Amino acid sequence: MKNRKNLSAADKELMDCALSALKNAYAPYSHFAVGAAVRTATNRIYLGANLENASYGLGICAEVAAICAANTAGDFNIIEIAVIGQSLSPENLNMDSIVMPCGRCRQIILEAGQVSGGGVKVIASNASLTMISKTDIEKLLPYGFGPRNLMRLDK
Ligand code: THU
Repeated sequence: MKNRKNLSAADKELMDCALSALKNAYAPYSHFAVGAAVRTATNRIYLGANLENASYGLGICAEVAAICAANTAGDFNIIEIAVIGQSLSPENLNMDSIVMPCGRCRQIILEAGQVSGGGVKVIASNASLTMISKTDIEKLLPYGFGPRNLMRLDK
């Protein structure tokens, strides 16, 4: 387990970007803000924040927003994603646990990792940046179904 101080400079930068994205979360229903940032092989960073909807099931996770931003820029070789979450509801403000990608996000991250060929590192933090875990998407979604099952990937 790491904290912000003992992250590499690159991971610190990525997590700080995720934290800045979290500030733009649109989460009026869950009152739970999530920010994500992806780094691509070209060393660019794309941000995402969760975006909820009055039709609750339509909400979009921060990770998906960040991955879509990279793809839309034509820069889909994602090598790492940082995720951070924070409760905004007054009674839960002291909740400070690590926010890991949800199941759907894991599937979408796995796809990106198989397409890029190098997998994706996942770095996930609590709101106060005191507990940070770093792992691989293939560990978070073992034996996952992905593009490797459907197409030949050169990389
Ligand atoms: N959320 C994310 O943005 N990413 C995750 O991996 C977990 C959940 C969002 C969805 C919803 O807007 C809020 O957090 C509470 O579930």
